[in-house]
Amino acid sequence: MTLNLDAIGKKIGPITTEYNWKDIVLYALGVGAGFDELEYVYEDRLKAIPSFAATALYDFLGEFVAITGVNLAGILHGEHDLIFHNPIPPEGGALTSEARITNIYDKGEGKGALVIGQVNTYHEDGQKLFTNVATLFSRLDGGFGGENAPRTTFEFPDREPDFEELAQPSADQPLTYRLSGDTFALHVDPDFAQMSGFERPIMHGLCTHGYACRAVIKHLFPGEPERMTHFRNRFSKALYPGTPIKTQIWQVEEGKALFRTINVETGKAVLDRGVVEWMSRGEAEKRGKGGIRFDSQVAIVTGAGGGLGRVYALELAKRGAKVVVNDLGGARDGTGKGSARPADAVVQEIQEAGGEAVANYDSVATREGGEAIVQTALDSFGKVDILINNAGILRDKSFAKMTPEQWDGVLAVHLQGAYNVTAPAFRAMRENGYGRVVMTTSAAGLFGNFGQANYSAAKMGLVGMMNTLKLEGAKHNIKVNTIAPLAATRLTEDVMPPDMLKKLKPEMVAPLALYLCAEQCAESGLVVNAGGGFFSRAAVASAPVVQVGDGQQAPTVEEIHRHWAEIDSLESSRQYQDANAMLMDMLA
Ligand code: NAI
Repeated sequence: MTLNLDAIGKKIGPITTEYNWKDIVLYALGVGAGFDELEYVYEDRLKAIPSFAATALYDFLGEFVAITGVNLAGILHGEHDLIFHNPIPPEGGALTSEARITNIYDKGEGKGALVIGQVNTYHEDGQKLFTNVATLFSRLDGGFGGENAPRTTFEFPDREPDFEELAQPSADQPLTYRLSGDTFALHVDPDFAQMSGFERPIMHGLCTHGYACRAVIKHLFPGEPERMTHFRNRFSKALYPGTPIKTQIWQVEEGKALFRTINVETGKAVLDRGVVEWMSRGEAEKRGKGGIRFDSQVAIVTGAGGGLGRVYALELAKRGAKVVVNDLGGARDGTGKGSARPADAVVQEIQEAGGEAVANYDSVATREGGEAIVQTALDSFGKVDILINNAGILRDKSFAKMTPEQWDGVLAVHLQGAYNVTAPAFRAMRENGYGRVVMTTSAAGLFGNFGQANYSAAKMGLVGMMNTLKLEGAKHNIKVNTIAPLAATRLTEDVMPPDMLKKLKPEMVAPLALYLCAEQCAESGLVVNAGGGFFSRAAVASAPVVQVGDGQQAPTVEEIHRHWAEIDSLESSRQYQDANAMLMDMLA
């Protein structure tokens, strides 16, 4: 049977399962917890061992095999990566998981293939809880002509471990562990185990994994499993129940340690290349108090293959959003035939961090492109909650020398582009009764910049578009705001000195963009400047009216001249919610 490479990217599920406190305790008993870690087994003070998350994988393993067509006879669970977004509520509830095959790598003829499957799990309260990334090693499927997995290096520090934890799984350990979901006969049936080449049933790799998870928590952040953010390892050898194991831990930096678990009798690693990461207590407390999250929300970021858009996409995904990473991958002036690489690289970055994203390579500058970008979100994730119109190019020239192509090209990407994507997105948001749209303007538009008449016109056009969409979106809970960023990207790399560029990382702008995308943002119609950690509002305002003449007859030009200082003054100027409010004020 040949491998089905079309399986890559296909959605599997969702599957919803219920769990309660007893499932948390049963898992804890299965991975060796007892009286000395009462918080894992006693419902009065219960905390879930984070590796409980791995049990969500069991519902999908069969489908991973079926959809990819790998040869079941040669399948091994090679590596496991767990990313934690929010603590697992110990009281239980419904968990909904959705999976995808994210890659199939070819190690070569006779060397096998790697199938990478990702499962994202949400609690019924909408919070994204965790991501499982399983690497299945398929011994019999190599040599299909695919690309090989990127090489990774791993080295334990050249010193004794900082901590060691000895444990003795019981001779019957798999009989308890299997009740958490992996009921494969290899771990219970002596005849089946012998047929598979073992003396007797073996430990589940994910059971030993739970022992290791307990061990690292005990030594690195005791009693606070909710601080774990990442837990990764390779499964390297089988282990018989009843064999003593030792988890060896090296702390390599603040919030990061390496570990392995060895079979004490042979000295060989059964879990290898382990990495655990955790957050500070302060961060964990903040998260517990409900930080701003985008769990279950779907975001489109245009021009997200680099610069500001890339960071917006990464940060949104980190906080739980499913992201459409759009980028056509052209040159700074919008020329060139485009490339899938920038969008693909950002999608990969997001997925490796446990997030969900799909790439889209359409140009925002055409109607069809805009429709296709929004359709990508609807097809992949079912809705659109957030749109950041960010894609941009530059074709600078002083106005006298500017060609019509330079004018048109810039307006097509910035102004038409925002229209092309916002129109279908706005429709989807109205139907959903929720939306957050962010436009990207520029100081060049708000205040002018030599050589950028095209860009300034387009960028100020976006502010006008926002002013009206804020009104039309209001009753559908669609908020529309505008960011005026300043950041070191390829658009600005040659216009600012290097020491200034260093201070203007896109990461310093992203928190504002994310805030404007959040449910918590109740504002609509704002323009906010952001750069280097500094933020300020910009606005169009109008000064109090000055009456010239008696209101019956038109004033003379000379009268205007005489009153010029008063008309010109912005003192006591104010903003208006819409054009009517301004006109009524003037007429009154
Ligand atoms: P960037 O060049 O790093 O990113 C822009 C991205 O948009 C690129 O990856 C590009 O491939 C993509 N893109 C261009 N045309 C596209 C099209 N037709 N369809 C889809 N994608 C397309 O630049 P940067 O600085 O990150 O710019 C982001 C936004 O911020 C732009 O709208 C820019 O005008 C605006 N801005 C940036 C400032 C800064 O200081 N970096 C200042 C003021 C505004």
